[in-house]
Amino acid sequence: MTPVTPPPIPKAKGSLPLLGHVIPLIRDPLAFTASLRTAYGPLVEIALPGTPTVVVQDPELIHAMLKNNTLDKGKFFEAMGEILGGDSVVTAAGQGHRRKRRQLQPAFATPEIKRYVDTMRDEVTTTVDAWQSGQTLDVREAMVELSLNMLAKTVFGGSLQGETFRQLRSDLSIVMTGVGARIMLPSWAAKVPLPFNRRFDRAREGVRATVGRAVDELRASGHDTGDMLSLLLHATDSETGEPLTAHEISSEIITLAVAGTETTASVLSWVLYELSRNPAIEAGVLDELHQVVGERPIAFGDVMRLPYLRRVIDEALRLHHTGFLVTRRTTTETRLGEWILPAGVELAYCQHAWHRDPELFPDPLRFDPDRWLMATQPSPSSGYIPFGTGAHKCIGDRFALTAMITAIATIVRRVRLELRDGQTVRPVARATVRPQTLRMTVQPRQATTAPLVA
Ligand code: HEM
Repeated sequence: MTPVTPPPIPKAKGSLPLLGHVIPLIRDPLAFTASLRTAYGPLVEIALPGTPTVVVQDPELIHAMLKNNTLDKGKFFEAMGEILGGDSVVTAAGQGHRRKRRQLQPAFATPEIKRYVDTMRDEVTTTVDAWQSGQTLDVREAMVELSLNMLAKTVFGGSLQGETFRQLRSDLSIVMTGVGARIMLPSWAAKVPLPFNRRFDRAREGVRATVGRAVDELRASGHDTGDMLSLLLHATDSETGEPLTAHEISSEIITLAVAGTETTASVLSWVLYELSRNPAIEAGVLDELHQVVGERPIAFGDVMRLPYLRRVIDEALRLHHTGFLVTRRTTTETRLGEWILPAGVELAYCQHAWHRDPELFPDPLRFDPDRWLMATQPSPSSGYIPFGTGAHKCIGDRFALTAMITAIATIVRRVRLELRDGQTVRPVARATVRPQTLRMTVQPRQATTAPLVA
């Protein structure tokens, strides 16, 4: 049998000399990636300035790409590594990545997640306690604050207190919110001494200095403070027996904040938005919470016993996924389905567009948690991979799910967040996809036993 030559990879229309597809990518990036799915097949080439990039659209090929361990992480993650001033588990590939992943993995094991739940719940409770009846919240900002607080407390809440804790948390917040803008800009723009750049650089160096001092003090004292920082401090490379350096630990902490905060905050915001627009779904969540948890605070044992809430979160992860363009790069001649790609090809996939494809998810714009009960719906093994797959699968998936279930279970039993009339909430794509602005009004739940501050 003669081998069949695959069709050439089409180039997406609308590319301009020098600019490539920059204009549609700036004007409406989500509409652009959605249009690629409608107009082209499994692979399509787009032009970013100086970088043709093959967008992978077929679920099987996306799986194959993510499971191929010969690939580098590609342009997006390389830029992130440079901006953050050092490689971490998020930006590294190959052997270097495997080593970093091994060192970080114990911090995300079940006994640790179990310990983090109390901290997470305390942070949500403090957040809701501060809300006042009738107050209008910028929910996205509130969820970013909350997600960063939950992460900061679990990572270094045992080791650092008072002003040092607050300073590190605030430096991380500046780095985390600035990194998205920096990735979008050409690298020379980061060197211009603008206030934004100076603030970002100061905060990044602040994180490194604070973590460096904490590592020295903790090593000298020999204390186990029970947080993630202490765990990383005691982690050694299973091959060399070497401990992590202070620089490596601060690189990991910075990227955990970057990878774990905006993502969790966006999904939490969308869940609260969808509950407000869908009273029957909200009633279902409350009903399940009352039956399983009752009036007491949520505990680790409850997290796996709330299947309806879990489906609501899965549906938010589908319809409002935070992934815009996740990248990879071939390092050698690579087979992808029927295509053979040479070394040096930039690859990307858009999870947001994938999850709204009507051929894969019928009536895709409808928020329907019960679609996950249907046998025809893609499952994690056949297509739906909100946390990725392969060697770079999200290390924080259980952390994120536990944090989100703990947060929603605590918030919705205390308050109802109402959308302001006539508000249309649009997703916007930055480094991640997130709601543009989400303003909601705080109303106490009638049945609550713990009234809000009036
Ligand atoms: C709803 C929340 C989250 C979503 C949707 C999400 C999604 C993802 C996805 C899709 C990847 C794979 C990227 C790739 O293929 O290159 C990933 C990687 C990663 N995530 Fe998450 N994530 C979330 C929360 C978190 C949290 C809370 C943390 C940490 C506390 C975290 C830490 C990481 C790290 C370190 C990686 C890189 C793993 C590696 O390359 O080995 N994520 N995440």
